[in-house]
Amino acid sequence: MKESAKYKHSSYTPAKQMVWRKSITSHMAICKAIWEKYPKWKLSYRIFDLFAGPGIDPDGQMGSWRIALDIYDNDPIDRFRLELYECDPVQLDCLKRSIPDQHKRKIGVKPYDHRYLDVIYPDRLLSKSVYGIQYHDPSNADLSISTMKRLHTCYPHVDIMVNLAFATMKRIDKAPHANLDYSIDEIMEVKKRWFIREPMGKHQWSMLMGTDWDTPEAFASWEYVGWAHTASALGIEWLDRCRLTVKERIHNGQPSLF
Ligand SMILES: C[S@@+](CC[C@H](N)C(=O)[O-])C[C@H]1O[C@@H](n2cnc3c(N)ncnc32)[C@H](O)[C@@H]1O
Repeated sequence: MKESAKYKHSSYTPAKQMVWRKSITSHMAICKAIWEKYPKWKLSYRIFDLFAGPGIDPDGQMGSWRIALDIYDNDPIDRFRLELYECDPVQLDCLKRSIPDQHKRKIGVKPYDHRYLDVIYPDRLLSKSVYGIQYHDPSNADLSISTMKRLHTCYPHVDIMVNLAFATMKRIDKAPHANLDYSIDEIMEVKKRWFIREPMGKHQWSMLMGTDWDTPEAFASWEYVGWAHTASALGIEWLDRCRLTVKERIHNGQPSLF
């Protein structure tokens, strides 16, 4: 495992966790409303946390999947499940120890590996009754577009959330021996509708959230948590900052905001 891929807590982490908490709270609430409308469909809610981390960080703060569990505890949704993936044995061990006994049956834990994921989610698997989120929160820009696409093929109603340092991503992508197998445009081809958060700091930390739902009003509450639709003026501006280098922005006649 590359050193850069290991679990790290940065000054951006608390902001990220706050956005994750608020966004998942509202996402679960939207899904609960669907459950109530169609009780016979026996829909289920699943979070695929592909870069799960320890659950409780060294400062005692909750990480992504523990936050999701906390939201569930406060306002349970039927047929809730967490699928956790973590490749670092040290973090995996912390993760296993952080799982509360009463939730063990709701949580699947796997050492993450792309080939292994292909076995778990074969091409023929298709489940339209599962809603939820596939969450990609890599330490570096170590995202796998094939994993994202495969999960989307198997679970088309599961939305996608990505947390990335876009400056890092662009830097790696422009490096002579770049090995990024994805671009923002490719990510955005996976779902129909995307939301974005304002890039923060010199690393340009930002989040993308993709869905196929055609009900923008369902996501109206997200704007209060700082999300903008990528077709809105604000969304286009934030997306350009994430997608283009300063040089490219100047070349396009856009002012540099950094
Ligand atoms: C930024 S942390 C994510 C933490 C978690 N989402 C949270 O909010 O608490 C990234 C995690 O992904 C793990 N990781 C790094 N590369 C990975 C890979 N290729 N596959 C799976 N996990 C990976 C790291 O060990 C680390 O725990």
